[in-house]
This record gives sequence, structure tokens and C-alpha cells, in this order.
Amino acid sequence: MIAVLGAGVMGTGIAALAVGHGQAVTLVDPDPAKRAAAEGAVRRHLRGGRLMGALPRTGPSGELVCTGDLADVAGAATVIEAVTELPELKAKVLAEVSALVAPGTLLLTNTSAIPVDELAGSAARPEDVAGAHFMNPPYLIRMVEVIRGPRTSDAAMAAVGDLLAALDREQVTVGDGPGFVINRILQRTINEAARIVPPDDVDALFRGCLGHRTGPLATADLIGLDNVADSLRVLHERTGDAGYAPCELLLEKVRAGQFGRKTGQGFYDHGGEPS
Ligand SMILES: NC(=O)c1ccc[n+]([C@@H]2O[C@H](COP(=O)([O-])OP(=O)(O)OC[C@H]3O[C@@H](n4cnc5c(N)ncnc54)[C@H](O)[C@@H]3O)[C@@H](O)[C@H]2O)c1
Repeated sequence: MIAVLGAGVMGTGIAALAVGHGQAVTLVDPDPAKRAAAEGAVRRHLRGGRLMGALPRTGPSGELVCTGDLADVAGAATVIEAVTELPELKAKVLAEVSALVAPGTLLLTNTSAIPVDELAGSAARPEDVAGAHFMNPPYLIRMVEVIRGPRTSDAAMAAVGDLLAALDREQVTVGDGPGFVINRILQRTINEAARIVPPDDVDALFRGCLGHRTGPLATADLIGLDNVADSLRVLHERTGDAGYAPCELLLEKVRAGQFGRKTGQGFYDHGGEPS
């Protein structure tokens, strides 16, 4: 069984990826509203992934169990942590879960920006911790940015390879550090783009001139502006680089509850409905 911690945008997406590949998943979230919505979200992701040919159309799905009780993951073969991008929260969750599971159980964090070694320091066995930065949505995007921390063991890295092979993902393994590779670049680009709005112009230039499929501000709406602001704070605090300090427009949108697709409004109007 794969334990997925956090039933938000990424947790439900990762759960769908695993269930769609026949793996049993226990999805943990303390928020009853998130748990109530999780099964429907995973089902929608599964249907969409199969329609697009991104998930196997034949073969059995894995069983999905949603729970608020972390103790239910004690027998997990792998743990994937996808809770809110708050360093203290992630450290607490990793400390708790590492005390529950057997030594040698792979503990993966899907953090966007917190150095893996910083999080590994809160786990009972730092050598079992690695980073697997799945992109959104995880069942559509095959590439995973894998992060090996300085204390991650060879056995943990081998287990990451086995897991990603079972989920039909590709990986590029990078070294540790704030934001790793993708978010060191992407989050700063989003922050810069948000200073330049209107979003239509910025994204149209990225699409038309650079061949990007969406553009940084449409990407920010897909990620979730709350998560972008949290990730920028992590990067700013750990690099001291003022370019990562979340810009005022982004903070205003987060204060107004305009998180992007997940609330129906962000840099773009998504019809006022979560999507
Ligand atoms: N959104 C993206 O595009 C994206 C992409 C890659 C990585 N990430 C990373 O994935 C992680 C999750 O991001 P998200 O976008 O899914 O956020 P989200 O806000 O949609 O979901 C986070 C979930 O964590 C839950 N949570 C809080 N405390 C918990 C606990 N103690 N145990 C279990 N669950 C708990 C919350 O209730 C919430 O449902 C973050 O670290 C984020 O940086 C996000």
C-alpha cells in the first residue's frame, strides 16, 4: 500500500496516478471537507487520465481508502507526503509518520521548494527520505524531478526508481537545495510575470514567442496561488534573494481567496467554479 499524505490538488492527483496503475492507496487528510471531496476528485482524475490515454485503460484499479487517522498508514510500503507547503507542518508530519512505519520504508516528499535535507532532519531515519517533485497533474505529466538529499541512502534511491517505474514515470535526479531546479526558475518567473501583468499579454508572449503551452500566469493558476506564495516565501527565506519575495499582487489575490483554478478565480476567471 502507498500512503499519500494530503488530499489536496497534488495528493488526489498522485493517488489517481497510483490507483490507475493498480496500486492500493491510503489517502490521509485531517480536514473532513477535503476527505469528503477526495474520492470524487480521484475518480474524475482517473476518468480524465484514461480518456486521454495517460492511464492504463485495462487492468484493475487499486483500492482507495480515505482516512483522517495517520495510524492507518503504519503498514505502508511507501509514503508520499503532499501536505501544504509550510516547513513546520511538513516537518511535524514527517516526524510522526516516520515513527509509525517500518525502518527502510521510503518517505518521499513532494515539496515544491523546501530542501529535502531540511525535512529529512525531522524524520526518525533521514536516510529513508528523498524528494519526488511530481508535476500537476501527476497522471498527465510523465517526468518527475527526483531529489537526492545528502543523507538519502542508495536503498531509498533504488526504491524511488522502482516506484516510478511501477507508475510508468520518467525521472531526472537533481541535487538538493531551495526549489531544486524547476521551482528555483519557475517560481521566480511567475513572480516576475505577476509584476508585469496583464496576464493575457505575458502568457500570449510566452506561448507565441517561446512555444510554451500555457504561460507563467496560467501555470500559477493551475498550481494554486496560495501554494505559489508559500513556495516563494520558502525560497526567499532560504536564499535571501529579494527576487523571490512574493509580489504584492500575488499576496493580494491570496488574501482575497483567489487561489486560481481551485477556487475558480486567480489571474484568470475560471467561471467562479473550482476546476
Ligand atoms: N499544486 C501544484 O501544482 C504542486 C506541484 C508540485 C508540488 N506541489 C507541492 O505539493 C504539496 C501539496 O500541494 P497542493 O497544491 O496539493 O496543496 P493543497 O493546499 O491543495 O493541499 C494540501 C493538503 O494538505 C492537507 N494537510 C494539512 N495538514 C495535513 C496533515 N497533517 N496530514 C495530512 N494532510 C494535511 C490539507 O488539508 C490539504 O488538503 C505542497 O508541498 C506543494 O508545494 C504542488
